[in-house]
Amino acid sequence: MSYNLLKGKKGIIFGALNDKSIAWKVAERAVEEGAEIVLTNMAVSIRMGTINELADKCGAKVIAADATSVEDLENLFDETMKHFGGKIDFVLHSIGSSPNVRKSRTYDDLDYGFLQKTLDISAISFHKMIQVARKKDAINDWGSIVALSYIAAQRTLYGYNDMADAKALLESIARSFGYIYGREKKIRINTVSQSPTPTTAGSGVFGFDGLLDFADRMSPLGNATADDCADYVVMLFSDLTRKVTMQNLYHDGGFSSMGMSRNAMNVYNKSLEMEYNDVKHKEE
Ligand SMILES: NC(=O)c1ccc[n+]([C@@H]2O[C@H](COP(=O)([O-])OP(=O)(O)OC[C@H]3O[C@@H](n4cnc5c(N)ncnc54)[C@H](O)[C@@H]3O)[C@@H](O)[C@H]2O)c1
Repeated sequence: MSYNLLKGKKGIIFGALNDKSIAWKVAERAVEEGAEIVLTNMAVSIRMGTINELADKCGAKVIAADATSVEDLENLFDETMKHFGGKIDFVLHSIGSSPNVRKSRTYDDLDYGFLQKTLDISAISFHKMIQVARKKDAINDWGSIVALSYIAAQRTLYGYNDMADAKALLESIARSFGYIYGREKKIRINTVSQSPTPTTAGSGVFGFDGLLDFADRMSPLGNATADDCADYVVMLFSDLTRKVTMQNLYHDGGFSSMGMSRNAMNVYNKSLEMEYNDVKHKEE
């Protein structure tokens, strides 16, 4: 159902690779709510993925940019403003990648060159895009900037590796730049801490299926899907959240407030029973 929440608004959406991507769902939902958008991704992701299908569906222009390249970002904001004939109102950062995770380098055996890349792609790119937007005065007053994060920024989750450090930095950038951009232009900057979601990046996380199931059992409302996330992000782009800034907002079905749930306890007890029976069997 559409509420015309973004009627007359324009924005840039980073990170739609395929129809599983969270950014894909946000793009569809934003357009449904009346927004006009520009889609962007790395040239290689545009070639390998299906973003052009999304662009056709949304009537959107696609502009290639590597979010770690300030030059690419400058071109992106220039071209976007040319395309719309003026400034934009919202930006979504939906980008993450860790070469250490991809190459199975564990947290106690990180390649530091890879770590630099993880931080640059997954966190510093957020700073770069905001700095470029501000220098070009590309965003209207009362605009909204959102990046996607994960609870590994606050809590240690086995296997999330150096992406945890990247998310902590990402959330810190939202606060630090949120102060400056809020003070000057009333532009708000928030991160949305999303449930595990079966996407290309998500599925690359070590033990992802177990993590997805665990989070679902722990959350009273169940995991938030990519579609649920799109609804939440659209609300953050809308004028209904004009005084929300510098926040990390949990969108996780209640997971972040839980310690143990009945659903998770049931599975845990079953495996304890199996372990006990195994030991008993060996002793007999
Ligand atoms: N999937 C999950 O479980 C989950 C949970 C919480 C948060 N998130 C976050 O959501 C965001 C989107 O990920 P997703 O799950 O939709 O996966 P996805 O694989 O669909 O999207 C990741 C995107 O990052 C883009 N990207 C990588 N390097 C880039 C670069 N240098 N420049 C520009 N773009 C680049 C990729 O091309 C891809 O489109 C990420 O920040 C991710 O950490 C995901």
